[in-house]
Amino acid sequence: MSQRREHRWPRPLEGRKARIWYGGDYNPDQWPEEVWDEDMRLMVKAGVNLVSVGIFSWARIEPRDGVYDFGWLDRVIDKLGRAGIAVDLASATASPPMWLTQAHPEVLWKDYRGDVCQPGARQHWRPTSPVFRGYALRLCRAMAVHYKDNPYVVAWHVGNEYGCHNRFDYSEDAERAFREWCEARYGTIGKVNDAWGTAFWSQRMNDFSEIVPPRFIGDGNFMNPGKLLDFKRFSSDALKAFYIAERDALAEITPGRPLTTNFMVSASGTVLDYDDWGNEVDFVSNDHYFTPGEAHLDELAFSASLVDGISRKEPWFLMEHSTSAVNWRPVNYRKEPGQLVRDSLAHVAMGADAVCYFQWRQSVAGAEKFHSAMLPHAGEDSQVFRDVCELGADLNTLADNGLLGTRLAKSRVAVVYDYESQWATEHTATPTQRVHHVDEPLAWFRALADNGVTADVVPVRSDWDGYEVAVLPSAYLLSEETTRRVRDYVAGGGRLIVTYYTGISDERDHVWPGGYPGSIRDVVGVRVEEFAPLGDDWPGVPDHLDLDNGTSAHDIADVIGSIGENATVLASFRDNPWTGMDGRPAIVANTYGEGRTVYVGARLGRDGIARSLPAILGSLGVDTADTSTADLLRVERVDEATGAGFTFLFNRTHGTVRTTVEGRPIVSSLAECDGTGASIEPNGVLVLKH
Ligand code: GAL
Repeated sequence: MSQRREHRWPRPLEGRKARIWYGGDYNPDQWPEEVWDEDMRLMVKAGVNLVSVGIFSWARIEPRDGVYDFGWLDRVIDKLGRAGIAVDLASATASPPMWLTQAHPEVLWKDYRGDVCQPGARQHWRPTSPVFRGYALRLCRAMAVHYKDNPYVVAWHVGNEYGCHNRFDYSEDAERAFREWCEARYGTIGKVNDAWGTAFWSQRMNDFSEIVPPRFIGDGNFMNPGKLLDFKRFSSDALKAFYIAERDALAEITPGRPLTTNFMVSASGTVLDYDDWGNEVDFVSNDHYFTPGEAHLDELAFSASLVDGISRKEPWFLMEHSTSAVNWRPVNYRKEPGQLVRDSLAHVAMGADAVCYFQWRQSVAGAEKFHSAMLPHAGEDSQVFRDVCELGADLNTLADNGLLGTRLAKSRVAVVYDYESQWATEHTATPTQRVHHVDEPLAWFRALADNGVTADVVPVRSDWDGYEVAVLPSAYLLSEETTRRVRDYVAGGGRLIVTYYTGISDERDHVWPGGYPGSIRDVVGVRVEEFAPLGDDWPGVPDHLDLDNGTSAHDIADVIGSIGENATVLASFRDNPWTGMDGRPAIVANTYGEGRTVYVGARLGRDGIARSLPAILGSLGVDTADTSTADLLRVERVDEATGAGFTFLFNRTHGTVRTTVEGRPIVSSLAECDGTGASIEPNGVLVLKH
């Protein structure tokens, strides 16, 4: 495993105090220079202290091959700096100019049918192209040389959301690089054949030259799962190698300046293995866009907690989120009153020491003109801008009260998240297309919150085995290494919850045989003989199964054939006898070594998990559940040295929630304290210092 880089955070401008960084993407090249002065005035009014500049400015900075125009960028950076606003400066390589792709169409990526991605948007380049790499690194060096001593540039923003549009490339360059990647990972073609199970369907290869990317194989056919999984690993690694080359080109010239690139961690997407990428940045930064509807706050908190896990509890940077609507969904819902401030403070609660938006000033032209911004089309006299100003003041209040330097407190419970399990469960030849890894960690996070527990979302390679309770939620791939950690954790006294669809395969996606979950059957004390998917796509098929604890399973249940001798059944299925499920164990407790486990052999959904949790935690001997606080999401940031800290209370409901108050209220939005406690309105938040 790679070594982590030392955590390095952007330093404040000369003569300025350390603050929570606050601002957004700033695209001054979309505006006449007269507008810049108004931008500075309004940024200062809003409390903005940092902007990201130049992300999509390649064509403006290098208008012709090898000809640079830094004049405009110098002028705007100077204006910003003099206004006290620091710059997170882009490598500017995210969107190559027309002259480059016309001279070198061989840098454009190809889709799985061989169609070329044409210029016209952004990220139309292939990460494995030596030609593109040459141009991009030349620009990185030119930027680094020009801005080496600029006192206002406090960080490098390398690329932008790598893989957002060019995650998979099936070009000739990609083919060559994929072969090299396979050779580096496996050494011999025999090992690749083993890993990919090429004895199946006559896919055996004689030589690395017979390896091709998983290109079009005909609709309705099924790609080799081992190869597809490795292609996802390769694609993450290919972009990472490109990022590292850019990073190192910059770092060689400006070694003192911290570097980052913005990840896209959210419950809905798994473009790259961000936990692996977390090794390669000086500080972790993330872009998060809210999920509309009832999961909004919970999904945000879940994703932000995962970012905190990727950052190994070091402060992290919220590089982008939105003040209100995005523009890229079929229906782009605006934020409700209060959500602008609440969402940002929820990221802060989860460990962010920087709050930035896409983008500062809303565009009037281009594909993102209907995307919200800090300064909307309506201008300064708007609720959005007033909220942006309120938030700027709140963030300063938090910093003045000592929030910087505190960390998200460690929870008692870790919900494990695994990028590779997600990738493997996306395959199209599985027991059911309704079950992927990603849904289950979020359901557990929410159900735990319903029981008063704010869990930590912890990447599988991190320290989940250092928690009092760990949940392995549909962790489909269990490598030999993770298997060993699971066994050691429970043997040594850990409390482990394991769900259906966990430990099905090893890291090559070869099934662990003998009954599921093959490599940890004895640890959890169950032996699953078959999957029982549930659906509604044929008349008369089972769409749910009831359990005797009052919950029901949807989408999938396990056919548990037998349980271990120390195991006890916490809940069973109740169904018609002819289905063969009636009376079978559904939730099973076990002891192993010094530890205890509970196996949940069905998808119960957030509500079913929440209702089952008191019994599950009880049988693990953990006294944590408290449903009386379910209406609030409670998050603590603490200073480990002094014990001082902050409690963030978020209303999870659509009604006003009353709560007691322990500590001194320092920031609130849609919340009010009185003699006996506090009332927090929907979308409200209260921050207490203690
Ligand atoms: C991000 C991207 C930004 C902007 C934003 C809109 O993916 O980095 O440049 O496009 O989305 O939501």
